[in-house]
Amino acid sequence: MEPLRAILGEARSVSTPVLEAVGLHKRFGAVIACHDVSVAFDAGELVGVVGPNGAGKTTFVNVVTGYVAPDSGYIKYRGREHSGLTPRTAVTLGIARSFQHPQLYESLTVLENALIALAVKERRHASWRPLKQARALQGASALLERFELGEAADVEVGQLPEGRRKVLDIAMSFALRPSVLLLDEPTSGVSAAEKFALMDTVTGALAEAQMTVLFIEHDMEVVERYARRVLAFVEGRIIADGRSADVLGDARVRELVLGVAEGA
Ligand SMILES: Nc1ncnc2c1ncn2[C@@H]1O[C@H](COP(=O)(O)OP(=O)(O)OP(=O)(O)O)[C@@H](O)[C@H]1O
Ligand SMILES: [Mg+2]
Repeated sequence: MEPLRAILGEARSVSTPVLEAVGLHKRFGAVIACHDVSVAFDAGELVGVVGPNGAGKTTFVNVVTGYVAPDSGYIKYRGREHSGLTPRTAVTLGIARSFQHPQLYESLTVLENALIALAVKERRHASWRPLKQARALQGASALLERFELGEAADVEVGQLPEGRRKVLDIAMSFALRPSVLLLDEPTSGVSAAEKFALMDTVTGALAEAQMTVLFIEHDMEVVERYARRVLAFVEGRIIADGRSADVLGDARVRELVLGVAEGA
């Protein structure tokens, strides 16, 4: 199946992509979760990643961020090849991610979580005490303000509603100051009423930073509203990649991703 490459050829800049996947392939038993995937992203792109359950969206993110080793293929970061990636080396390069289920320190406060994220960035996580220095506190408060979490600073993370937990998890990835940030279902578990506010907060906070952002999303209203470019995964392959209106309007995407029969 030839992938749809609507308009993208024209839209891509001639500069070196910030991130490229080259022939990434990953099999789990009989399932090919990532099927020879090659794709490139420019600085500052905001990309929605769609596809049915089990299509390989999370596996793609896992491979690109070093959480899963590919059977073959590699990534290029700013034009340089990297294989044998680990989560730590990915972060060191400038590639960070958030999780479908936020990975947070539940019994600590929001502010303490932010302090830890900043300490990880500065590699000062070996001891807790220096974290509470004035400069660190200022940085953590600024991070929380940026993501509209300032009022929740002293709340224990275990007590936070899911939407706030998601935002905190994303803020903590942002604290690593990556060039590429991959978000796995930022609005899952968040009420319909809250999802746009959450995405407004997150995209607003990220916009000034010129980060390349990929977000996996099942909610097409969210994809339509926020993504400039959309990748559609089906059975481990990218079946469409282009401007969001073109991809979401494509007949195969409508059938295989959205479950809309032709003519409907
Ligand atoms: N660690 C693993 N071990 C075995 N199989 C796996 C593993 N990770 C993913 N898979 C399989 O790979 C396929 C792709 O899974 P993946 O989680 O990447 O899909 P997804 O598109 O993120 O789906 P969802 O929308 O449900 O999150 C699925 O068949 C899944 O069962
Ligand atoms: Mg997934």
